[in-house]
Amino acid sequence: MANLPITTKQQIYWDRIMFIYESALKEMNTKLDILNKEFGFNHSYNPIEHVNSRIKSRDSIIDKLHRYGKEVTYENLVKYINDVAGIRIICSFTSDIYSLASMIGAQKDVKVLTIKDYIANSKPNGYMSYHMIVSIPVSFSDRVVDTKIEIQIRTIAMDFWASLEHKINYKFDGETPSGFKRELKECADIAAFLDRKMQALSDEVKFYRPDLFGEENGQPAAVDIEMETFVKTGEVIEIKDAMFGEIAE
Ligand code: GTP
Ligand code: MG
Repeated sequence: MANLPITTKQQIYWDRIMFIYESALKEMNTKLDILNKEFGFNHSYNPIEHVNSRIKSRDSIIDKLHRYGKEVTYENLVKYINDVAGIRIICSFTSDIYSLASMIGAQKDVKVLTIKDYIANSKPNGYMSYHMIVSIPVSFSDRVVDTKIEIQIRTIAMDFWASLEHKINYKFDGETPSGFKRELKECADIAAFLDRKMQALSDEVKFYRPDLFGEENGQPAAVDIEMETFVKTGEVIEIKDAMFGEIAE
């Protein structure tokens, strides 16, 4: 297999591969948008603050293959680089992270390949986040390609810490003095404390106003629409009429 792009032909091949990863990101972003809105219907708030997605740069991919001691080929790129396509989801509360992760995992066409729970087991430097490597099928005109995506799910506080820690470490080129590391760990502890306080407040609000969260006895309120019926052709009109009838009343 050819090395990563140098010639025009190789550039075209590169673009085609990246197009697959970009398409996978689009599919996943749509899924997240749907899950976020559906959660809003069930619980009266949206768990996702925002989502960022990116394709890893060519230089970073080559660097990583070198770091892994792998030859720079397309096969190795697909096999060993799990974060060519990456999505970062920023949630409001820690509990939202686990709800979202399980909703993503429950999607019929999503395969969860690995999970790293750096929230239950934070890194020694203080890093917290929930990481999933998943694969998602992307349909093209003549084939379906299962494509890997790295998903990182964090709260705003976890994201705040991780962004600044990355910037500071970058300045020291990986040789961050121990004093800075200690201070950063302290900041991580403060961020984690903030998340626990926010979670406790959110739980308390839910306790006092379960109605605001669309919950009955701690469970999402029942919705009496038979979702499966929507996909049965022929019954769609009837359902629509029924719904409009209800709205008109
Ligand atoms: P890479 O770190 O990507 O080489 O792979 P890995 O196999 O070690 O994966 P891991 O799941 O531990 O980390 C993947 C990604 O999480 C990284 O690329 C970062 O975006 C993020 N990450 C992991 N650890 C840290 C950390 O200590 N600080 C920050 N700021 N980000 C981290
Ligand atoms: Mg990475």
